[in-house]
Formats: sequence, C-alpha cells, structure tokens
Amino acid sequence: MKKIYITTPIYYINAAPHIGHAYTTIAADVLARFYRSQNREIHFLTGTDEHGLKIEEAARALGMEPQNYADQISEKFRELWKHLDIRYDDFIRTTEERHVRCVEDVFSRLLKSGDVYKGFYEGYYCLSCETYWTEKEILPNEKNLKLCPNSECKKPLERVKEESYFFKLSKYQQALIEHYQKNPGFLSPAHRASEIVNFVKSGLQDISVSRAKVKWGIPVPGDSAQTVYVWFDALLNYVSAVLESKTSNPSGEFWPADAHIVGKEIYRFHAVIWPAMLLALGFPLPKKVFAHGWWTVEGQKMSKSKGNFVDPYEATREFGVDSFRYFLLREMPFGQDGDFSIEALRRRYNSDLANDLGNLISRVVEMTDRFLGGKLPTQSDPEKHEYPRRWAEKTPAIQSAMENLNFSEALSIIWSVISSLNQYVNEQAPWKLQKTSPEKVEPVLFNLVWSIRIVMGWLEPFMPQTAAKVQAQLGIRQLPRPVTAEEVLAGKPTASHAILKAPPLFPRKTKP
Ligand code: MSP
Repeated sequence: MKKIYITTPIYYINAAPHIGHAYTTIAADVLARFYRSQNREIHFLTGTDEHGLKIEEAARALGMEPQNYADQISEKFRELWKHLDIRYDDFIRTTEERHVRCVEDVFSRLLKSGDVYKGFYEGYYCLSCETYWTEKEILPNEKNLKLCPNSECKKPLERVKEESYFFKLSKYQQALIEHYQKNPGFLSPAHRASEIVNFVKSGLQDISVSRAKVKWGIPVPGDSAQTVYVWFDALLNYVSAVLESKTSNPSGEFWPADAHIVGKEIYRFHAVIWPAMLLALGFPLPKKVFAHGWWTVEGQKMSKSKGNFVDPYEATREFGVDSFRYFLLREMPFGQDGDFSIEALRRRYNSDLANDLGNLISRVVEMTDRFLGGKLPTQSDPEKHEYPRRWAEKTPAIQSAMENLNFSEALSIIWSVISSLNQYVNEQAPWKLQKTSPEKVEPVLFNLVWSIRIVMGWLEPFMPQTAAKVQAQLGIRQLPRPVTAEEVLAGKPTASHAILKAPPLFPRKTKP
C-alpha cells in the first residue's frame, strides 16, 4: 500500500537552524504524527541542502573543507529535531551518493530528451544568490546601479555572457495551468495559488540549470566545466530519497508525495519549476504543495545584520518543547504571517496551558484522589458514553482541519472542548456533590476522565510529551485513534487503575 509521504524543504547549512526551520519541521511532524495516530502508514522526509557557493564560502571562512563543514552543520539539524521531538522517517543530504546519482541520471535523461539543452546566457548574475536576472526583473530605481532584486541581498550584479544548460520551462506553461485548474487542492492556500497562476499565465522563460562559477556542486554529466544549479539539485531530493531500487524513478510505495510543506519565499520553485521538472520526467505530480507564512520577531524581520534569529533551544528552555510546538501552530494560522516574541509565548503558556489545560488535569487528578481514594472512576454508562460523546463528535471537524493543514483551527476546536470541561467541573462541583449526593461524584469524574482521554488523542500530535504525562497521570492505557466518533469512544475503563499524582504540567510563569 502507498504510504502517506510528507516533506519539508531541505535546509541550507550555511547557518545554524532557527525558529523558521523549526516551524516548518514541527508542522510537518504534527501532520505526520496525526496520520500515524490513525494507524496510517507514513513516510516523513526532511534533510539538508548542502551544495552551492554560499556553503563553500561558509566552509572556507572557517578554514574547513565543504564536506566536513556540511557533516558538522547537517548534524546540528538532526540534533535540533531530536530536541523538538521530530519523528522523521528519513533524512536526506544532497551530498549523499543516492542523491548525487539520481541528479546525474535525471540531468542526463533530460539532456537526451531535449528538455535540457546547452545555450548561452546573457544578462545579469548575482554571485551571492547564484541567480541570473533579466533586465526586466531589476527594479526601476535600481536600474542604474544594477543591484540584485532580492530584497535580502541587494548586492551589485555582474554582467555576464556565458555557456549554460537550460531547462525548457516555457514548454510546460500550458500543462501547468491545466494541472492547477484540474486539481484545485494542488496549490494552497488559495491566495498563494492565485499568485502562482498569474505568474505562470504571464509567461515562462527557460531557466539556467548549471553554473560555471560554482565548484561545490554536482558536475554536469559529461561537462566538468559546469555544476548543476543548486535548486535543480535540491528539488530532486524529494525523489532521490524514495527511489525504486536500482533506478532513478520514485517508488510507487511513496510517490507521488502527499504534501510538500514549504515557506512562501520558495513557493515558485515548488509550485512551478518542480512540477515542470516532474512533467518532463514523466513522473506523477505531488498531491499538495503548501506555502506557509513567515515569522517576524518582535515586529522585525530576522536577519544577520540585526542578529535577531530566534534560537529554538533558547525558546524552549523556559517553557518546554511542547509549549513551543503548541505556540507556533496556535498563534498564527498556517499560511499567514505572524510575530514571535517571548512575551506572546508566555501569554499563551499562562492562559491556554497553565490555566486551561494544566488546571483541568490537576483538578481531575486531585478530585479522583480525594473522592475516590485515587482509583480511577469506572461507574457510569461505559457502554453509552453519553457525556463524552458530544466531544467525540467533533472528531470529523478536527480531521478535516488537519487534512487542510489548518492546525490553528484544530487547536481552537480542542481548546473549546477543554473550556467546556473546565466549565463542567465548575457546574457539577464534585466537592459539593460529595456532601449532597455522593453517588453522583464517580459518574462526573468518569465523564471527565473519558473526555480528557479524547482530548489527549487529538492533542498528542501537537504535544507528545504532555499526552504521555497525562496518560500516566490518569492511567490511560491507550489513546484513542482519532478517526471517527465511535473509534474515539471505543474501549472500556479498567477498575484497577490508579491515578498518579505529579507536579503541575504547566506551572505558571511570571516575568523574570
Ligand atoms: N535549501 C532551500 C530549500 C530547498 S527545498 C528543495 C532553502 N533552505 S533554507 O534553509 O533557507 O530554508 C528555508 C525554509 O525555512 C523556508 O521555506 C521555511 O520553511 C523556513 N523559514 C526560514 N525562515 C522563516 C521564517 N522567518 N518564518 C517561517 N519559516 C521560515 O530555502
């Protein structure tokens, strides 16, 4: 059976990983864990993009060989993913043999078919971005100065005339437009999709896919004067990681990818060039290419000059990994831009985690201890589950939010249930019931434990450590599979289980 195949971009190793990289990878991890929790087979790929001039220069600046440098920085990404509880199935590096061979083979194939051809490039080149620019693309006010149009760069451009290999992107304009029209879910979110459609409709030019000036790259087969352009190389990771053995074709066990998750700044590469490359190769196109938005930090763009990159280790030190994962996916809807600050994280932590979730769990544990001698409630209507059923019925809405990568929507449904449960505790007031009608206490606690079990089944992909702790505290053997209302209600409480008293999950944090 085909696995659900989810990818992140492969990250450049010219800098240490920061909150932006963490964001995409956490989102992909949450999606992968969600499908896994439904017992679906998943293949989650991430990795590092290791060729190109920037990486060669970064290595040189440290007096290192590019490969040694790449080994070191790539490892930093894997360490961070471990710290953030990212459960990937495979990690690809573009300097690996399996990848290099696939790129060489694909390049040769396209040369043979005529979709890659040798020509001359005449125009402007930005050495720093490794990008060719046409006269048309240079901003009017920068025309005389000939500055790089990339707002992050703005360095002087070089006028060049040189040999290069080109990919016939223009040939695929019509096919791409047809694909976008026939497959409305392919590009999302919608506002990004329309940008892409307009861009493609305005006309596509063939693109250069080799560089004579870059040494640290995969040599063009049969022409050692050129290396393969880093983006042509990098995009192929999605295929080179899932090859059918001894070929450079993707295996049907994984391909086509179900979701490529990328940041908005690299959407054109993924929504235009990548599908055109796949069309040229005759491989099926991915099901979905999703562009998420960007984080600023306290209102500012993160940049080297400002030195304001948020270090994920720093951000998790005070609040923990789960709170950070929760914050990133709750605070800004996936697809839009948002702002990160430690203060915003603290606010969400105190209100959503300490007040709502943490409080609910500690109240239920405490009441079970006090009123039932620490034994978990079993007496209610375990067959009918009338009270928890109303929450279980929210499963399809959560499923649909997750399928659309609408993580903040899924979390907001989950939190509406958590608030209702806190309200139920207040209304039922077991501490009063204990005095007036003690026989009602156990069914109330039963309803709460069973509802929390449902909530934790939904929340586990977002907050795996918290789900495990709550499971231990409430003696929940197994979290439900969040597929249908019936499935999340399935199972019976066991009488022998006892609660486990533990320190609060999210102690309130005041400003230092
Ligand atoms: N190597 C290319 C991708 C090749 S994929 C075939 C690349 N690498 S990168 O290291 O620059 O990573 C870019 C990705 O990091 C973005 O697409 C996004 O996923 C993430 N982010 C980097 N900065 C970000 C923010 N400020 N906010 C959110 N995510 C951002 O591009």
